[in-house]
Amino acid sequence: MTKPELPKDQWNDDLSLLSKRVLVTGGAGFLGSHLCETLLNRGHEVLCVDNFFTGRRANVGHLLDNPRFEVMRHDVTFPLYVEVDEIYNLACPASPFHYQHDPVQTTKTAVHGAINMLGLAKRLGARILQASTSEVYGDPQVHPQTEDYVGNVNPIGKRSCYDEGKRCAETLFFDYYRQHGMAIKVARIFNTYGPRMHPDDGRVVSNFIMQALAGTPITIYGDGSQTRSFCFVSDLIDGLIRLMETPPEVTGPINLGNPVELTIRGLAEAIIEKTGSKSELVFRDLPQDDPIKRKPDITRAQTYLGWTPQIALADGLDSTIAYFRRVNERLDHKTTAQAEAAAIAGK
Ligand SMILES: NC(=O)c1ccc[n+]([C@@H]2O[C@H](COP(=O)([O-])OP(=O)(O)OC[C@H]3O[C@@H](n4cnc5c(N)ncnc54)[C@H](O)[C@@H]3O)[C@@H](O)[C@H]2O)c1
Repeated sequence: MTKPELPKDQWNDDLSLLSKRVLVTGGAGFLGSHLCETLLNRGHEVLCVDNFFTGRRANVGHLLDNPRFEVMRHDVTFPLYVEVDEIYNLACPASPFHYQHDPVQTTKTAVHGAINMLGLAKRLGARILQASTSEVYGDPQVHPQTEDYVGNVNPIGKRSCYDEGKRCAETLFFDYYRQHGMAIKVARIFNTYGPRMHPDDGRVVSNFIMQALAGTPITIYGDGSQTRSFCFVSDLIDGLIRLMETPPEVTGPINLGNPVELTIRGLAEAIIEKTGSKSELVFRDLPQDDPIKRKPDITRAQTYLGWTPQIALADGLDSTIAYFRRVNERLDHKTTAQAEAAAIAGK
C-alpha cells in the first residue's frame, strides 16, 4: 500500500516510524526529480545523487529547503558509500540526443552504474529498483510488448549504447538476485512525458511542444505513421513506488507505460491544436533502428501493482504545454535554467 501524502506544513513532524532513507540516482533529472518530490511528500528522507549531465539544479531547487532532502554530486560509474534503506537507480541519459553524445560513457553509466548500485544494495541489504526501458525490446516484432518477449535489438547500432547497456543492467540485476538473493525490482519504462522534461533534448513530446509554441515547423522523422504510447509522469512515479513496495518475490521485469497508442503524426496534430499553433509539419529521414511500433502490455502491472495509468493524454499535454509556456514566459530576462527554476517554483 502507498503511504499518504503529507502537506508541506507537516514536513518537520516526527516521521521516524513511517520514514525510510531513500537514494535516488539521477535524482535531478526529469523522472528523478518528480520521484524525489513524491517520496518527500510521503515522509521519507531522500538522497539525490546526480552528476548533472542532463539533470539540472532547477529541477530540485524547490526541494532544497526540506530538511529531509539532500543532493550529492556523484557519478555512478564510481562506487558510492552511503547508508540507505532503498535505492532507485535512474541515473542514465535517456534521450537519443544525449545518450549518443558520449556512447561509451552511456554504456558505462548503465553497466558500471548498475554494478556499483547493486554492490551498495548488497552491502546494506537494501531493496533496489532499476529504471529499465522499453528500448530493451528494440524494434519489436511482438505487439503489444509483453515482458517475456526477449526483443529485437541491434547490438552495434547508434542506439545500442543505451539499449544494450540497459539490457546488461537487467542481466546484472537478475544475476545479483539469483546469486545473492537480493530484493530487486526491474521496471521497463515506456515513453513518459510531463513538466521538467529538458526543453531541447530532442524527445518527441518536448520537441513538438517547443516547436509549436515557437511557431516553427514541427519535425517528424519518417512519415509519422510510427506509433508510440505516452505515459504522464505522475502515473509513472506512482507505478515505480508501487513496484518498490511489492513483496520480495515480485522482481519484475514489469512494463510501466500507457497502453493508449497513437501515431507520431497524430501527436503532432494534437499539440498543434492544443497550442493553437500555425506550425507546419516537415518530414525528415527516419533514424537508424527507430522502432516502428511501441505499446506496452500492462497486464503484469495491473495484476501485481494494481496499477493503471489515470491521466489521459489530453490532460497530460495540457499540463506539459502550460509548463513550457511558463518557462518561455520567463526566458526574456533569464537563462533557461533560471526560467525553468522559476517555472517549477511558480514564481
Ligand atoms: N523518460 C522516459 O520516457 C524514460 C523511458 C524509459 C526509461 N527511462 C529511464 O529512466 C531514467 C530517468 O530518465 P529521465 O527521462 O528522467 O532522463 P534524464 O536525462 O532527465 O535523467 C537522467 C539523470 O541521470 C543523471 N546521470 C546521467 N549519467 C549519470 C552518471 N554517470 N552518474 C550520475 N548521474 C547521472 C543525469 O544528470 C540526469 O539527472 C533513465 O535511467 C532512463 O533510461 C526514462
